[in-house]
Amino acid sequence: MEFRHLGRSGLMVSEISYGNWITHGSQVEEEAAHACVRAALDEGITTFDTADAYAGTRAEEVLGRALKGVRRESVEIFTKVFWPTGDGQNDRGLSRKHLTEAIDGSLRRLGTDYVDLYQAHRYDYETPLEETLKTFDDLVRRGKILYVGVSEWTAPQIQRALEIADQMGFDRLVSNQPQYSMLWRIIEADVVPLCSREGVGQVVWSPIAQGVLTGKYLPGQAPPSGSRAADPVSAGPIGRFMNDDLLTRVQDLRPIAADLGLSMAQLAIAWVLQNPDVSSAIIGATRPDQVRENVKASGVKLGADVLERIDQVLGEHVQRDGSLVERMSPKTRD
Ligand SMILES: NC(=O)c1ccc[n+]([C@@H]2O[C@H](COP(=O)([O-])OP(=O)(O)OC[C@H]3O[C@@H](n4cnc5c(N)ncnc54)[C@H](OP(=O)(O)O)[C@@H]3O)[C@@H](O)[C@H]2O)c1
Repeated sequence: MEFRHLGRSGLMVSEISYGNWITHGSQVEEEAAHACVRAALDEGITTFDTADAYAGTRAEEVLGRALKGVRRESVEIFTKVFWPTGDGQNDRGLSRKHLTEAIDGSLRRLGTDYVDLYQAHRYDYETPLEETLKTFDDLVRRGKILYVGVSEWTAPQIQRALEIADQMGFDRLVSNQPQYSMLWRIIEADVVPLCSREGVGQVVWSPIAQGVLTGKYLPGQAPPSGSRAADPVSAGPIGRFMNDDLLTRVQDLRPIAADLGLSMAQLAIAWVLQNPDVSSAIIGATRPDQVRENVKASGVKLGADVLERIDQVLGEHVQRDGSLVERMSPKTRD
């Protein structure tokens, strides 16, 4: 496993990290979840990503149990806050009240005294940015969080947060967590250029487009049983990729992977890691063998000719519209 700095911070993270959205506390049983975490640790993954809202807070509990007994200094634990964790009017968002209460819930569920990175899961249009950043800074001073990051913020939102931090002497953002894959490149337009200048690293999610880039979903056929797209509870978010045209193009990536002696998943993860602004690619898994296969993308170098072939195959199926970043954060509560 190779390691990278998290943005311009001193923190080293494994360039492939393990995340538990959709899986822990939901799609997979506790035993399978622990087996995946054990496989990740065995393969050299040290960075683990979760969120308070995943599986209605159960995902943090499962990860906490799975990491029990692991030397705390040997892992980096990331979590997030923003989406509702309860029915109350303050059980959501980035207010001082919610951040202050939410971190204690996350620490308790994760069984740790601090998280390495605390991320604003989305931008909160209803809370002054100064209030959020001051509270994050207070949590750093109180030793509950070590670094501050965001997820799916637009370039102007990140820029404003950095300006406020510089003016007020608050801790600066060190990372952004966006969706990024061969198929979903919307951060390349504005977010990456700004973050690159400012030393904010990208911790990217769904590098294999939730399984689509493994090539296991075949055009004209039902999703394989047990897969995310076949799961009635989890199938929603993967839906945007499940059309026959796109699935056909993905099959055309097979010769490229084969020429390099890589699996399709390894090719897709290696692709995001070619971007030097990516600090880590967060992989998900339902089985330990997926983790063991996917980590082999660490350290793989892809030539310009390979990147060109991939672009030719995927063609107009690559989403590059930078304005889509703004749609990731809800403007109102409803
Ligand atoms: N910040 C955010 O808003 C946000 C949003 C989403 C995710 N995330 C983070 O990113 C993490 C990863 O997201 P993701 O799970 O969508 O990532 P992903 O790595 O693109 O997809 C993972 C899924 O693909 C399938 N898969 C993995 N390896 C495979 C292989 N070798 N062969 C066949 N199928 C394979 C598995 O699902 P099946 O076996 O069920 O098919 C697995 O659960 C999350 O856990 C979370 O930490 C963050």
